[in-house]
Amino acid sequence: MNFSFDFSGKNVFVFGGTSGINLGIADAFVSAGARIGVASRSKDKVDTAVARLSRRDAPALGFSLDVREPQAVADALASFAQRQGKIDVLVSGAAGNFPAAAAKLSPNGFKSVVDIDLLGSFNVMRAAWEHLTKPGASVISISAPQAIVPMAMQVHVCAAKAGVDMITKTLALEWGPEGVRINSVIPGPIDGTEGMARLAPDESARQGVIEGVPMRRMGTPQDIADACLFLGSDAARYITGAVLPVDGGWAVAGARMNLA
Ligand code: COA
Ligand code: NAP
Repeated sequence: MNFSFDFSGKNVFVFGGTSGINLGIADAFVSAGARIGVASRSKDKVDTAVARLSRRDAPALGFSLDVREPQAVADALASFAQRQGKIDVLVSGAAGNFPAAAAKLSPNGFKSVVDIDLLGSFNVMRAAWEHLTKPGASVISISAPQAIVPMAMQVHVCAAKAGVDMITKTLALEWGPEGVRINSVIPGPIDGTEGMARLAPDESARQGVIEGVPMRRMGTPQDIADACLFLGSDAARYITGAVLPVDGGWAVAGARMNLA
């Protein structure tokens, strides 16, 4: 499929863009002509992603960092902006997840996910503001169905991702007057990803998830990337503060997941 989005000459930065859904998003922006930066903790994953995302005329830039460390996030964004220019599209997708019953989850286990998903998201937004193209930048938070549908064994993720969507809505108020848009994308169950490996680890669990999706299939990273290309483009010029499920209808059907 060719939706012909053109990001030639645009700068795109993807936090968590070294694997899974976020790497698919980075791939799509590079294919559409963008210059890309990615960041995550693992140096090996960063190096591999940079090799994959680099074009001869536009080498990718990679940063090994933890989004829980605000200075590291700020340094990476400043370095990217100094070398490439202002950021036209920012994607905040770093996250952690594991299934755990609330009554057994340690406070530090809860905190680790909230720190990565929610505080990390704030750290990214806070540091990115000065480097965004104004007017014109588009910011995309990668949220999750847990933000809008309660899910057993996911109290930490539900709390964190609901907060992420409230960051999206609040910053839409603050940044709209400067011509910066910000939206959340809520991926459905995406096949072959770390997230699904953790929540639906075998074929029977996978089939159970598919039965709960009105469109009766798992999603692909490309499904999510296409929505991000749209939100990053001028086609979405009047969309801000939105929370967009890209999930085959999974959330409206309750996003059933048998984790108990
Ligand atoms: N069940 C219950 N608690 C768990 C857990 C699990 N499966 N995995 C980790 N924890 C707890 C740990 O026990 C620890 O708490 P404690 O100090 O009270 O024992 C706390 O979480 C932090 O663990 P740690 O391993 O130090 O965390 P980390 O910061 O190195 O890693 C995670 C963060 C736990 C989210 C890790 O799974 C991760 O890095 N995930 C990234 C990839 C991912 O989750 N991808 C899916 C996309 S959302
Ligand atoms: P993934 O491949 O594990 O992606 C997570 C990314 O975040 C990795 O690049 C990881 O790399 C990075 N990361 C994790 N902790 C970090 C930290 N503290 N600092 C910096 N980077 C960190 O998982 P995925 O399943 O594709 O998920 C991607 C996004 O989609 C997440 O936001 C997730 O919540 C969301 N989502 C996924 C699904 C699904 O079906 N998979 C459904 C709904 C929503 P490092 O390990 O190198 O840090």
